[in-house]
Amino acid sequence: MYTVFGAGSIGTVLAGLLADAGVPVAIAGRHAVERLRLEGDDETVEAKVPVVAEPLGTILLCVHGPDVFDLCPLWKGRTVVTFQNGVRAEAAAARWCEVIGGVWRMTCTLVEPGRVLYTKRGRVIVGRYPEGVDPEVEALAADLRRAGFDVGVSPRIEGDKWLKLFLNLASTAHAIVRREDHGKPEFGMLKAAILEEARDVFRANGIVAESGDGRDASIDEEIGRHRKGGGRARGVFNSTWRQLSLGRRPKERYHDTVTALGPAPRNEAMLVLLDRATGPECYTAEEALSAVCGR
Ligand SMILES: NC(=O)c1ccc[n+]([C@@H]2O[C@H](COP(=O)([O-])OP(=O)(O)OC[C@H]3O[C@@H](n4cnc5c(N)ncnc54)[C@H](OP(=O)(O)O)[C@@H]3O)[C@@H](O)[C@H]2O)c1
Repeated sequence: MYTVFGAGSIGTVLAGLLADAGVPVAIAGRHAVERLRLEGDDETVEAKVPVVAEPLGTILLCVHGPDVFDLCPLWKGRTVVTFQNGVRAEAAAARWCEVIGGVWRMTCTLVEPGRVLYTKRGRVIVGRYPEGVDPEVEALAADLRRAGFDVGVSPRIEGDKWLKLFLNLASTAHAIVRREDHGKPEFGMLKAAILEEARDVFRANGIVAESGDGRDASIDEEIGRHRKGGGRARGVFNSTWRQLSLGRRPKERYHDTVTALGPAPRNEAMLVLLDRATGPECYTAEEALSAVCGR
């Protein structure tokens, strides 16, 4: 039995796809509703999931990173799967809970309670925190596979979390630069500049950001891909975009993890742009590139 805690973008998709596959699952959290409608690029899934006040079974935690600190003390000794972006949720949760680290590589946008847009069933990686694989991890992976995810099982989940953080450094650019500029060379140059700096900071600090099962692109391959630019045809937006669209400041900023590791002026400049953002897609690619690289 699983309970998805956090009835937002990824929580709604996770609960809906597990329920649709016949895996026992409930949902909890603010605005949680029983009837879910998931609208993918190529499919629409409707599912009914019981809403519970207190989580039952394994907790699939789908809130933002800072919320982990408030919630996990309530669940001492329970197993929690941390799908947060960033690299801090696992250590936080492990103060109170048994932790399986999760990496969610799929973009989803909640448009109203119970209704979410996504592209396609994406890749999800799980592994015991701080390292290893055990029967509980394998059983979770099997259930996620039943739900149609492309599942990886990682013996070194921290490497996968760092790799995902690395990718998220590009997601800020997608959130704050206007969509019609995403095909421009300046947009690719902006993302490559941020990622190259982060790669160098990671290396200087001995941080290994790599796929535990070897299936995901390396950081250098990612830099090459992002340099090419390009965008999405359909309006499925990342978490930073959604927070800005709601008039909120993003709870997870990603670049501050890089700047905390050493001098990183380009990532610092992205944080300034994010702080000054008046909403999603509020900068041109040229403006953002000039702020980050002084061109
Ligand atoms: N969306 C994506 O495409 C995506 C992709 C990869 C990773 N992620 C990561 O997944 C995590 C969740 O992101 P998301 O986009 O799903 O966020 P979201 O849409 O904002 O959903 C989070 C949900 O959790 C609820 N919540 C937070 N704290 C709570 C609490 N103490 N009690 C009850 N409910 C609580 C929120 O309610 P309120 O809205 O009322 O606060 C919201 O419904 C983040 O770490 C994000 O970085 C997201």
